[in-house]
Amino acid sequence: MKRLIFATGNENKMKEIRMILADCGYEIVSMKEAGVQADIVEDGKTFEENAIIKAEAIRKQTGCLVLADDSGLEIDYLDKAPGIYSARFMGEDTSYRIKNRAILDKLEGVPEEQRTARFVCAVAAAFPDGRTITRRGTIEGIIGYEERGENGFGYDPIFFLPERGKSTAELSPEEKNQISHRGNALRLIKGVIDENTDHE
Ligand code: IMP
Repeated sequence: MKRLIFATGNENKMKEIRMILADCGYEIVSMKEAGVQADIVEDGKTFEENAIIKAEAIRKQTGCLVLADDSGLEIDYLDKAPGIYSARFMGEDTSYRIKNRAILDKLEGVPEEQRTARFVCAVAAAFPDGRTITRRGTIEGIIGYEERGENGFGYDPIFFLPERGKSTAELSPEEKNQISHRGNALRLIKGVIDENTDHE
């Protein structure tokens, strides 16, 4: 079977992508499994540019079909910060407990209708023939008033889904994958892979 490399070192993302891309006709391997090492500078200005930089760097090394993603949290009241800097916000090594509390402080007294936010995920597919195609998935919510839930990671405890009455840290992994920005982007890119693959 042909190989598809997913450009991440994150095992949780690998699980998610294996579930969503099952039956796509490719064996899905991580960079580690493919024996690829890369120190990639993500200096793009958008989620899409960063995903493209990662996918194309690994395609250049391997010649394989490569997928890469870039994601983050946009808070409208903060002019869409932290956005593409979500991992680096307040320093890469700062705990999310501290980052999340800082965001709650910045939004103190801000009414619900101005607390709108979204998680964004761009996925790039770099094909061996040189084309690169991106797709974006989002999930809309609001910044809550306190941290809630133990599941998920990062900003999940403060990202609240009003229609479910839960933060994304209170969803099971399966529930989150069904509606998440990353799940949505991966399902869209699966369509792109299907359209661009010979199924004879
Ligand atoms: P990356 O795409 O792996 O670089 O992740 C970017 C950053 O965005 C993460 O480190 C988190 O801070 C944030 N982020 C992306 N997706 C999620 C999510 O599903 N929940 C919580 N935080 C997220």
